[in-house]
Amino acid sequence: MVSISKQLGKDFAVEVSNIKISPDVTEDDIIEIKSLWSQYKLIIFRDQEITETDLVSFSRYLGDLEIHVRTEYLSPENPEILYVSNVMENGRPIGILSDNEVGWHYDQIYLPKPAVGSLLAAHLLPPNGGNTEFSDMTSAFKSLPEEVKEKISGRTATQSYEAFNKAFSVPTSQEQKKKSPDIEQPLVRTHPITGERALYLCPGMTTQISDMDPLESREMLDYLFEWSVRPEFVYDHQWKTGDCVLWDNACTMHRRGAFDSSEERWMKRTTILAPEELAIPF
Ligand SMILES: [Fe+2]
Repeated sequence: MVSISKQLGKDFAVEVSNIKISPDVTEDDIIEIKSLWSQYKLIIFRDQEITETDLVSFSRYLGDLEIHVRTEYLSPENPEILYVSNVMENGRPIGILSDNEVGWHYDQIYLPKPAVGSLLAAHLLPPNGGNTEFSDMTSAFKSLPEEVKEKISGRTATQSYEAFNKAFSVPTSQEQKKKSPDIEQPLVRTHPITGERALYLCPGMTTQISDMDPLESREMLDYLFEWSVRPEFVYDHQWKTGDCVLWDNACTMHRRGAFDSSEERWMKRTTILAPEELAIPF
């Protein structure tokens, strides 16, 4: 039976043992994993040897899977898998996000029904760098001064995939742009499963608090961005061969450190959707 072997972050992030990511996982283990996922927001599976079909089959036990809008970076055999990689094949990158630093973001905060989870498997790692930091946005919200909580609760903000791509990635095609226009989301999100409230914003994509003077919005966002990555809310994951990380994308954001461009890094990600009735952030 899957069990916690180590707590890694202050209030979140646990390493688990006695589990192999495979289609043969037991029903009891899936129930336990879902429970740990909600409670600890981040689960680290060590020493996994998984195929793409194992990754997809296992991920399906956790929810329906998203086919990412960046279709040029999907696995040719398993389109539920997005490649995050700087590996080149036939003169083109097989994956998204190359080798540069990638700033803090929630995956898919720019979609009307953003994914609630991602499962990221290390396929090929550089000897140094390329770490992933996660921030616990539930704790970040809880510990805000009351007057700030009051000021931001009930508000929405603009989320822009375009802004993120400008800063950290490459532009989308016209067709992809149409599928990912700027949208508004609640600035404080109620978790669809636990009911806990979390800051739902990120430096990479949140550009403006709605119905707020632009200068005041800028100052508030800068304050919240700085607040939400204070060391007590952050867990820094240094990847090891065989690692797989499942995170709660409704209440944690993440960033990636840069690595040497002469080294190859290849990660494989599935993106897990919320049940239909809980899919729209509120
Ligand atoms: Fe991401």
